[in-house]
Amino acid sequence: MDLATHYGTGPPEHDRLARTPHGRLEYLRTRALLRRFLPGRARVLDAGGGTGVHAAWLAADGHAVHLVDVVPDHVAQAAALPGVTAEVGDARRLGSPDSCFDVVLLLGPLYHLVEGAERARALGEARRVLRPGGVLAAAGISRYLSLLETAAAGTLTSDRAEPVRQVIETGAYDGHVGFVPTHWHTAAELRDEVAAAGFAEVDVYGVEGPAWAALDAAGVERFDGLVEGALRAAEIGERDPRLVDVSAHLLAVARLAR
Ligand SMILES: C[S@@+](CC[C@H](N)C(=O)[O-])C[C@H]1O[C@@H](n2cnc3c(N)ncnc32)[C@H](O)[C@@H]1O
Repeated sequence: MDLATHYGTGPPEHDRLARTPHGRLEYLRTRALLRRFLPGRARVLDAGGGTGVHAAWLAADGHAVHLVDVVPDHVAQAAALPGVTAEVGDARRLGSPDSCFDVVLLLGPLYHLVEGAERARALGEARRVLRPGGVLAAAGISRYLSLLETAAAGTLTSDRAEPVRQVIETGAYDGHVGFVPTHWHTAAELRDEVAAAGFAEVDVYGVEGPAWAALDAAGVERFDGLVEGALRAAEIGERDPRLVDVSAHLLAVARLAR
Protein backbone atom coordinates (compact mmCIF):
# COMPACT_ATOMS: atom_id res chain seq x y z
CA MET A 1 0.00 0.00 0.00
CA ASP A 2 1.40 3.42 -0.90
CA LEU A 3 1.76 5.96 1.88
CA ALA A 4 -0.90 8.38 0.59
CA THR A 5 -3.46 5.51 0.68
CA HIS A 6 -2.29 4.32 4.12
CA TYR A 7 -2.43 7.78 5.68
CA GLY A 8 -5.62 8.66 3.75
CA THR A 9 -7.58 5.65 5.03
CA GLY A 10 -6.16 5.06 8.54
CA PRO A 11 -6.68 7.06 11.74
CA PRO A 12 -5.98 10.77 11.13
CA GLU A 13 -2.26 11.61 11.35
CA HIS A 14 -2.77 15.15 12.63
CA ASP A 15 -3.83 13.99 16.12
CA ARG A 16 -1.74 10.78 16.30
CA LEU A 17 0.33 12.27 19.11
CA ALA A 18 -2.72 13.38 21.12
CA ARG A 19 -4.97 10.28 21.04
CA THR A 20 -3.03 7.83 23.20
CA PRO A 21 -0.83 8.08 26.31
CA HIS A 22 2.19 6.80 24.38
CA GLY A 23 1.52 9.32 21.60
CA ARG A 24 1.40 12.17 24.12
CA LEU A 25 4.64 10.97 25.72
CA GLU A 26 6.27 10.71 22.26
CA TYR A 27 5.29 14.31 21.53
CA LEU A 28 6.46 15.74 24.87
CA ARG A 29 9.76 13.86 24.90
CA THR A 30 10.58 14.49 21.22
CA ARG A 31 9.95 18.19 21.78
CA ALA A 32 12.09 18.23 24.94
CA LEU A 33 14.99 16.41 23.25
CA LEU A 34 14.88 18.62 20.15
CA ARG A 35 14.74 21.79 22.24
CA ARG A 36 17.83 20.56 24.09
CA PHE A 37 19.88 20.03 20.93
CA LEU A 38 18.68 22.64 18.43
CA PRO A 39 20.62 25.88 18.06
CA GLY A 40 18.65 29.13 18.45
CA ARG A 41 16.69 30.47 15.44
CA ALA A 42 17.77 27.67 13.11
CA ARG A 43 16.88 26.89 9.50
CA VAL A 44 15.14 23.53 10.00
CA LEU A 45 14.23 20.95 7.36
CA ASP A 46 11.48 18.63 8.66
CA ALA A 47 11.71 15.74 6.15
CA GLY A 48 8.79 13.34 6.61
CA GLY A 49 7.22 16.00 8.82
CA GLY A 50 3.66 14.76 8.25
CA THR A 51 0.97 17.32 9.05
CA GLY A 52 3.48 19.50 10.90
CA VAL A 53 2.93 18.45 14.51
CA HIS A 54 6.55 19.33 15.33
CA ALA A 55 6.90 22.03 12.67
CA ALA A 56 4.14 24.00 14.45
CA TRP A 57 5.97 24.42 17.78
CA LEU A 58 9.37 24.76 16.05
CA ALA A 59 8.05 27.75 14.08
CA ALA A 60 6.45 29.19 17.24
CA ASP A 61 9.87 28.86 18.94
CA GLY A 62 11.33 31.13 16.22
CA HIS A 63 12.91 28.61 13.83
CA ALA A 64 12.47 28.89 10.06
CA VAL A 65 10.85 25.55 9.19
CA HIS A 66 10.56 23.92 5.78
CA LEU A 67 8.61 20.65 5.69
CA VAL A 68 8.82 17.94 3.01
CA ASP A 69 6.53 14.92 2.92
CA VAL A 70 5.43 12.36 0.32
CA VAL A 71 1.74 12.61 1.27
CA PRO A 72 0.11 15.64 -0.41
CA ASP A 73 -2.66 15.95 2.19
CA HIS A 74 -0.09 16.14 5.01
CA VAL A 75 1.78 18.85 3.12
CA ALA A 76 -1.42 20.87 2.60
CA GLN A 77 -2.14 20.79 6.37
CA ALA A 78 1.47 21.74 7.23
CA ALA A 79 1.54 24.58 4.69
CA ALA A 80 -1.38 26.21 6.50
CA LEU A 81 0.64 26.53 9.74
CA PRO A 82 2.00 29.97 10.60
CA GLY A 83 5.72 30.29 9.83
CA VAL A 84 5.98 26.92 8.03
CA THR A 85 6.68 26.37 4.33
CA ALA A 86 5.96 22.92 2.90
CA GLU A 87 6.29 20.93 -0.31
CA VAL A 88 5.61 17.42 -1.54
CA GLY A 89 8.89 15.57 -1.84
CA ASP A 90 10.91 12.51 -0.90
CA ALA A 91 13.60 12.40 1.79
CA ARG A 92 15.72 10.32 -0.63
CA ARG A 93 15.71 13.06 -3.31
CA LEU A 94 15.50 16.49 -1.70
CA GLY A 95 15.06 19.53 -3.91
CA SER A 96 17.11 21.80 -1.63
CA PRO A 97 20.67 22.96 -2.42
CA ASP A 98 23.74 21.71 -0.55
CA SER A 99 24.52 22.97 2.99
CA CYS A 100 21.43 25.19 3.35
CA PHE A 101 19.98 23.97 6.70
CA ASP A 102 21.24 24.16 10.29
CA VAL A 103 19.05 21.22 11.34
CA VAL A 104 17.53 18.25 9.49
CA LEU A 105 14.78 16.17 11.10
CA LEU A 106 13.98 12.68 9.81
CA LEU A 107 11.09 11.76 12.10
CA GLY A 108 9.36 9.15 9.93
CA PRO A 109 11.28 8.25 6.77
CA LEU A 110 13.79 5.86 8.40
CA TYR A 111 11.12 3.42 9.55
CA HIS A 112 9.05 3.73 6.39
CA LEU A 113 12.10 2.91 4.23
CA VAL A 114 12.32 -0.86 4.67
CA GLU A 115 15.55 -1.35 2.67
CA GLY A 116 18.82 -0.36 4.33
CA ALA A 117 20.09 1.13 1.07
CA GLU A 118 17.06 3.46 0.91
CA ARG A 119 17.60 4.60 4.51
CA ALA A 120 21.23 5.29 3.59
CA ARG A 121 20.02 7.44 0.68
CA ALA A 122 17.79 9.49 2.98
CA LEU A 123 20.63 9.94 5.48
CA GLY A 124 22.98 10.89 2.62
CA GLU A 125 20.54 13.56 1.47
CA ALA A 126 20.20 14.87 5.03
CA ARG A 127 23.98 15.14 5.15
CA ARG A 128 24.13 16.93 1.78
CA VAL A 129 21.66 19.67 2.73
CA LEU A 130 23.10 20.24 6.24
CA ARG A 131 25.75 22.90 6.76
CA PRO A 132 29.02 21.84 8.41
CA GLY A 133 28.39 21.67 12.17
CA GLY A 134 24.66 21.20 11.56
CA VAL A 135 22.46 18.85 13.63
CA LEU A 136 20.60 15.74 12.47
CA ALA A 137 17.77 14.22 14.51
CA ALA A 138 16.50 10.92 13.10
CA ALA A 139 13.77 8.72 14.60
CA GLY A 140 13.42 4.96 14.54
CA ILE A 141 10.78 2.61 15.96
CA SER A 142 12.13 0.16 18.54
CA ARG A 143 12.08 -3.54 17.63
CA TYR A 144 10.61 -4.20 21.10
CA LEU A 145 7.51 -2.04 20.58
CA SER A 146 5.07 -4.85 19.80
CA LEU A 147 6.45 -7.11 22.57
CA LEU A 148 5.94 -4.42 25.20
CA GLU A 149 2.62 -3.18 23.81
CA THR A 150 0.96 -6.59 23.52
CA ALA A 151 2.34 -7.82 26.85
CA ALA A 152 0.98 -4.75 28.70
CA ALA A 153 -2.37 -4.87 26.89
CA GLY A 154 -2.92 -8.60 27.44
CA THR A 155 -2.96 -9.24 23.68
CA LEU A 156 0.21 -11.32 23.31
CA THR A 157 -1.71 -14.34 22.09
CA SER A 158 0.08 -17.49 20.88
CA ASP A 159 -0.45 -16.56 17.21
CA ARG A 160 1.25 -13.20 17.88
CA ALA A 161 4.36 -14.72 19.47
CA GLU A 162 6.10 -15.57 16.19
CA PRO A 163 5.69 -12.17 14.46
CA VAL A 164 6.74 -10.45 17.70
CA ARG A 165 9.89 -12.64 17.78
CA GLN A 166 10.53 -12.03 14.09
CA VAL A 167 10.57 -8.27 14.32
CA ILE A 168 12.95 -8.40 17.30
CA GLU A 169 15.23 -10.74 15.34
CA THR A 170 15.15 -9.07 11.91
CA GLY A 171 13.64 -5.58 12.18
CA ALA A 172 11.10 -6.47 9.47
CA TYR A 173 7.69 -5.49 10.90
CA ASP A 174 4.74 -7.11 9.10
CA GLY A 175 1.84 -5.02 10.45
CA HIS A 176 0.75 -7.35 13.31
CA VAL A 177 -0.19 -4.55 15.76
CA GLY A 178 -1.51 -2.07 13.19
CA PHE A 179 0.48 0.39 11.01
CA VAL A 180 2.01 -0.47 7.64
CA PRO A 181 4.97 -2.84 7.20
CA THR A 182 8.04 -0.88 8.23
CA HIS A 183 11.62 -1.35 9.43
CA TRP A 184 12.14 -1.28 13.20
CA HIS A 185 15.55 -0.57 14.71
CA THR A 186 17.68 -1.45 17.66
CA ALA A 187 19.46 1.54 19.17
CA ALA A 188 22.82 0.09 18.11
CA GLU A 189 21.62 -0.40 14.53
CA LEU A 190 20.27 3.15 14.30
CA ARG A 191 23.56 4.52 15.66
CA ASP A 192 25.53 2.48 13.10
CA GLU A 193 23.37 3.61 10.16
CA VAL A 194 23.73 7.29 11.09
CA ALA A 195 27.49 6.94 11.66
CA ALA A 196 27.89 5.06 8.34
CA ALA A 197 26.29 8.04 6.57
CA GLY A 198 29.21 10.19 7.73
CA PHE A 199 27.84 11.85 10.87
CA ALA A 200 29.97 12.40 13.98
CA GLU A 201 29.05 12.43 17.68
CA VAL A 202 26.08 10.08 17.21
CA ASP A 203 23.97 9.50 20.34
CA VAL A 204 20.75 7.49 20.46
CA TYR A 205 18.10 8.45 23.02
CA GLY A 206 15.09 6.47 24.17
CA VAL A 207 12.09 8.74 23.54
CA GLU A 208 9.16 7.52 25.68
CA GLY A 209 11.20 5.68 28.33
CA PRO A 210 10.20 2.57 30.30
CA ALA A 211 6.67 3.59 31.37
CA TRP A 212 4.87 4.14 28.04
CA ALA A 213 3.12 0.76 27.88
CA ALA A 214 2.03 1.07 31.54
CA LEU A 215 0.51 4.49 30.76
CA ASP A 216 -1.37 3.01 27.80
CA ALA A 217 -2.68 0.23 30.05
CA ALA A 218 -3.79 2.83 32.65
CA GLY A 219 -5.82 4.68 30.00
CA VAL A 220 -5.86 8.22 28.65
CA GLU A 221 -7.97 9.54 31.55
CA ARG A 222 -5.11 8.83 34.02
CA PHE A 223 -2.45 10.43 31.79
CA ASP A 224 -2.25 13.78 33.58
CA GLY A 225 -1.60 12.11 36.94
CA LEU A 226 1.08 9.76 35.59
CA VAL A 227 2.92 11.85 33.03
CA GLU A 228 5.34 13.64 35.35
CA GLY A 229 6.89 10.42 36.69
CA ALA A 230 6.91 8.86 33.21
CA LEU A 231 8.82 11.84 31.79
CA ARG A 232 11.31 11.67 34.68
CA ALA A 233 11.82 7.93 34.11
CA ALA A 234 12.36 8.53 30.38
CA GLU A 235 15.03 11.13 31.11
CA ILE A 236 16.82 8.94 33.67
CA GLY A 237 17.05 6.03 31.23
CA GLU A 238 17.38 7.94 27.97
CA ARG A 239 20.96 6.90 27.18
CA ASP A 240 21.31 3.83 29.39
CA PRO A 241 22.35 1.08 26.95
CA ARG A 242 20.45 -1.49 29.08
CA LEU A 243 17.22 0.51 28.86
CA VAL A 244 17.19 2.57 25.70
CA ASP A 245 15.49 -0.05 23.49
CA VAL A 246 12.41 -0.26 25.75
CA SER A 247 11.18 3.07 24.41
CA ALA A 248 8.68 2.81 21.55
CA HIS A 249 10.79 5.29 19.55
CA LEU A 250 14.51 5.97 19.38
CA LEU A 251 16.00 9.33 18.46
CA ALA A 252 19.49 9.55 16.98
CA VAL A 253 21.07 12.97 17.40
CA ALA A 254 24.27 13.67 15.48
CA ARG A 255 26.38 16.48 14.15
CA LEU A 256 28.00 17.00 10.78
CA ALA A 257 31.72 17.62 11.19
CA ARG A 258 32.85 21.22 10.54
C1 LIG B 1 4.16 8.59 11.37
S1 LIG B 1 4.39 10.01 10.37
C2 LIG B 1 5.40 11.07 11.42
C3 LIG B 1 5.14 12.52 11.15
C4 LIG B 1 5.93 13.49 12.03
N1 LIG B 1 7.31 13.59 11.58
C5 LIG B 1 5.91 13.08 13.49
O1 LIG B 1 6.99 12.85 14.05
O2 LIG B 1 4.82 13.00 14.06
C6 LIG B 1 5.61 9.53 9.14
C7 LIG B 1 5.66 10.52 7.99
O3 LIG B 1 6.81 10.23 7.15
C8 LIG B 1 6.43 10.45 5.81
N2 LIG B 1 7.39 9.75 4.94
C9 LIG B 1 7.64 8.44 4.91
N3 LIG B 1 8.60 8.15 4.01
C10 LIG B 1 8.98 9.35 3.47
C11 LIG B 1 9.94 9.73 2.50
N4 LIG B 1 10.71 8.82 1.88
N5 LIG B 1 10.09 11.04 2.22
C12 LIG B 1 9.30 11.97 2.83
N6 LIG B 1 8.36 11.66 3.74
C13 LIG B 1 8.20 10.37 4.07
C14 LIG B 1 5.01 9.91 5.77
O4 LIG B 1 4.30 10.36 4.65
C15 LIG B 1 4.45 10.45 7.09
O5 LIG B 1 3.89 11.74 6.93
